[in-house]
Amino acid sequence: MSNQNKKLRVAVVGCGMIYLEHIPAFRELSDKVEIVALVDNKPEALEKAGKLWDMPQEKLFSDWKTMLAQVKPDAVDICLPNRFHYPCALDSFAANCHVYCEKPLGMNVAECEDMIAKAKAKNLKLAVGFQQEYNPGSVILVNARKTGFFGEMRYIHASLLRRRGIPNWGEYYSREFGGGPVLDVGVHLLDIATYIVDRPKPKRISATYFYNEGKGDNTIYCGGEKWNNVDYNVEDLAAAQITFENNLVIQLETSYVNHIKENTVYDFKLTGSKGGAWWQSGKIPELYSDMFGAMMNIVPSYLPSQGRPDMFRKKLDNWVDGCLKNSELLLPGEVGLYVQTILDGIALAAATQKEIVL
Ligand SMILES: NC(=O)c1ccc[n+]([C@@H]2O[C@H](COP(=O)([O-])OP(=O)(O)OC[C@H]3O[C@@H](n4cnc5c(N)ncnc54)[C@H](O)[C@@H]3O)[C@@H](O)[C@H]2O)c1
Repeated sequence: MSNQNKKLRVAVVGCGMIYLEHIPAFRELSDKVEIVALVDNKPEALEKAGKLWDMPQEKLFSDWKTMLAQVKPDAVDICLPNRFHYPCALDSFAANCHVYCEKPLGMNVAECEDMIAKAKAKNLKLAVGFQQEYNPGSVILVNARKTGFFGEMRYIHASLLRRRGIPNWGEYYSREFGGGPVLDVGVHLLDIATYIVDRPKPKRISATYFYNEGKGDNTIYCGGEKWNNVDYNVEDLAAAQITFENNLVIQLETSYVNHIKENTVYDFKLTGSKGGAWWQSGKIPELYSDMFGAMMNIVPSYLPSQGRPDMFRKKLDNWVDGCLKNSELLLPGEVGLYVQTILDGIALAAATQKEIVL
């Protein structure tokens, strides 16, 4: 883009749940972003979105192909269910658009590789929609790792568990459509755990999925009742172990249905040869090491807000700058591919009940 003051003309595709966090972020970036179109194939979702964001009828579209041809945006923000990330990204690249793609990048490694290749061929930006990298807690742990605080990485135990947290919207109930806790929530944990340890190369993966509890009748009281238990065929609970080339082991567990005390557990324990850390739901990370002849616990006395609006604004701002100024992305498609390689390995290991050697 030659004109330095030109705004990025962004089309948002998919007006369900997550786009509600994208539009406010783009509006905060209104000095450099113009939202030029909204797309959704559900008429009621499109109408609601048009009213909510005060978008005129001519900017509302029921399919992205028509929108791309008529509006010719600079960039497309994909907030679609997982199975539509790939076709929408490919059409967007064909129309010379940069792409922001919500997580996970694709349905499998082959899709991710093709998306990256298509973007590269046209020198277009492709970003994947993780955000925990912008969490101040992650920043502390990355800074600690960079100083060598942890020594050699040894072990991470990472949990993102829901007691009864099956989404009652969208396509999260279906394995074929890219649903289930591994792809939906576990993926965030995998992303942030590997980011903190500098994304070592995975070597071996084993995993087990447990099924069927979410197929039960919706007869219990819970926050997210009335999920689609009829078509539900995703894992309730998954446990995976990933061993990396640097001998780090990550033990990952994630669930939609699990008989635990809490509604949600986020718990991340990291240990290395020289130091460790523990980061639990709603708390700031603590760090542990031997210092001054004692076993020391180190706790930040202050951390700025860890709110999602901040993280969403920052992640989209990084992509917008990438598109406008050709600056480097923090979360390019390659990160989506790295995470997807592990996700595919986890799924294969669970399906075959064999350890996968990468
Ligand atoms: N980064 C995060 O923290 C985070 C959180 C939640 C969801 N997500 C991701 O965001 C994406 C969307 O999730 P969601 O919960 O908003 O889903 P959703 O089902 O609520 O919204 C998707 C919207 O896309 C529309 N749609 C479906 N197929 C379409 C098509 N072919 N053409 C046009 N519109 C179509 C649907 O009508 C729906 O309104 C997923 O990839 C999900 O993994 C990310």
